[in-house]
Amino acid sequence: MTQRRRILVTSALPYANGPIHLGYLFEAVQTDIWVRFQKLRGHECYYVCADDTHGTPVMLKAQAEGRTPESLIEQVHAEHKRDLAEMLIGFDNYGSTHSPENKVLCDRMYGTARASGYIDKRTVRQAYDATAKMFLPDRYVKGTCPVCGTADQYGDSCENCGATYTPADLKNPISVVTGTVPIERESEHYFFRLSAFEQSLAAWVKSGAVQESVARKLDEWFLQGLKDWDISREAPYFGFEIPDAPGKYFYVWFDAPIGYLASLTQLCARTGLKFDDFLAPDSQAELHHFIGKDILYFHTLFWPAVLQAAGMRRPTAVHAHGFVTINGQKMSKARGTFITARRYLNSFKAEYLRYYFAAKLGAGIDDMDMNLDEFTTRLNSDIVGKLVNIASRCAGFITKNAGGVLAGALPEPELYAAFSAAGGTIAAAYEARDTAGAIREIMALSDRANQYIDSRKPWALAKHANNAAEVQGVCTQGLNLFRVLMIYLQPVLPEMAVKAQRFFQEPAWTWKSSAAPLLGTAITPYQALATRLDPKAVARLVEPESEVTTAATAADGKAISIDEFLAVDLRVAKVLAADLIAGADKLLRLRVDLGELGEREIIAGIRAAYEPSILVGRLVVVVANLEPRKMRFGTSQGMMLAAGPGGKDIFMLSPDAGASPGMRIK
Ligand code: MSP
Ligand code: ZN
Repeated sequence: MTQRRRILVTSALPYANGPIHLGYLFEAVQTDIWVRFQKLRGHECYYVCADDTHGTPVMLKAQAEGRTPESLIEQVHAEHKRDLAEMLIGFDNYGSTHSPENKVLCDRMYGTARASGYIDKRTVRQAYDATAKMFLPDRYVKGTCPVCGTADQYGDSCENCGATYTPADLKNPISVVTGTVPIERESEHYFFRLSAFEQSLAAWVKSGAVQESVARKLDEWFLQGLKDWDISREAPYFGFEIPDAPGKYFYVWFDAPIGYLASLTQLCARTGLKFDDFLAPDSQAELHHFIGKDILYFHTLFWPAVLQAAGMRRPTAVHAHGFVTINGQKMSKARGTFITARRYLNSFKAEYLRYYFAAKLGAGIDDMDMNLDEFTTRLNSDIVGKLVNIASRCAGFITKNAGGVLAGALPEPELYAAFSAAGGTIAAAYEARDTAGAIREIMALSDRANQYIDSRKPWALAKHANNAAEVQGVCTQGLNLFRVLMIYLQPVLPEMAVKAQRFFQEPAWTWKSSAAPLLGTAITPYQALATRLDPKAVARLVEPESEVTTAATAADGKAISIDEFLAVDLRVAKVLAADLIAGADKLLRLRVDLGELGEREIIAGIRAAYEPSILVGRLVVVVANLEPRKMRFGTSQGMMLAAGPGGKDIFMLSPDAGASPGMRIK
């Protein structure tokens, strides 16, 4: 065996302002497969991660929910940990950037960088919300694009024409926080002198630390020249105060990657590992970061430079991946394609998604489309139809006809040897993060195993008692082929692999367990390892969640009397306010004016179809005499009429502008 490597691995830290979703799971699964593979190969590998807790969005979200940011991030931390554990992501430590360990490291690394002359103080003019008394990050200023004139664009770039600019360039800017017009205000900021690291970063990139396509992207950035990086933010801010700079905080992106190291610190404290063995400039350990392509700049420029400025080693490699789309569409709440981990895990086994991702994971940065039909087909055909089929067709005969004991020799040792020899190619594919390549090899072997069983037909042989030894031999062969495949699949299917290992009554497998067959030993009775996926259940993943009892669908053609119809009091209403409801991603809380009937609150399942802001001021049609309905998120005092199948396809009925609130509809 090659030398035992010591490897530290990370996934990007998920933001604490939202739930774990399928996009993040893609990253976590990719990382976890690689880590489990390294461990199975006998290397000393550790996987650390944490919640990314700081910054303006968390601060404002906590404010909106009337709680402290600490209580918000604590709750989210528990939810993230639970979801990721259910997804079988095997972290060695899962921390938080809001930890004492992170504070100590940030102060220390910043201190070293400053002492070495890498921190500058400069005056910055920035948008300021005088009502909220806070400086506004670019995304918290909206207005009209200065280039193409499209309204309602963020302060950093235009979604329509792609132009990038600063909030000061926007026409008619308003603060997203209060809706007031921001002013410009100056303050002192701290800058990290990234420009001082151009040459050493270029050398680091050439060391093979990034993928080919990423290196090309970096060349563009080098060509543009590296700008110094503003790492401070003014109070109010949820984060760590900068030492000796009261009222100034580290920008969330400064302390977030340091969170990797804080998580490592916790792991070291728990296990006796030594931090410096991983981070000292001459460390022999490997450091691998798995990230999405959207955060490359932070990980391939800022982060290696910050490490160097702090007197630490740089990453061995940064591995970027593309974005998950669902049925060909960007993951988006408005489109109903934002699937949370929770929603997936409420209905399906983690390993099904792990397998599907694995089968589609390459080493590049292309986006990955999750097509739900393909997901179902792939699972049913590969895992149920091929892989598990090998075991389920052989196990029964060993248990019933051979006393539960495997034969003492294989009828076709060369076939076994071919399976075992394929381990080299498969391992190389896993190592290179060509997981799809590994799965292709494994599935080709599954086909061969099934062909073998088809050709020997143990079920036919078993009809004659004098074939007993042959049946035992054929099934021992089949089960041994299955065993090798399960060893190869253990990084992807850790739970199924452990069940299989117990079925063979073996101690924990290593990659080398595939070298020799299992002969003459007892197995336990076989229990189904996987069941078919129902395409209808899978399709429900992108249907609106049933937070609302949906409005009555017209009862099967049954006519109602004119009296029943007249009993419905339909009115014109005007939307006064429309708000998101925390914890309900399908609902909006509407305040409507019903003229003579006064104001009402209506909870409507139209979040996927309408941005709240565009509803305000609109006329709608409301059933005004519906019994108030108590729901999880309050009482709805009426129902708004809309057409359409649901999700993003809901169309509100809207009277012409001449109508006024309270008018009866005839
Ligand atoms: N908090 C930062 C990372 C700090 S790392 C020191 C962040 N958080 S995030 O929650 O927005 O994203 C976490 C990771 O998930 C990123 O690597 C991001 O690229 C990845 N993904 C988020 N949405 C994704 C998809 N739809 N598809 C694949 N990965 C995506 O960025
Ligand atoms: Zn524009």
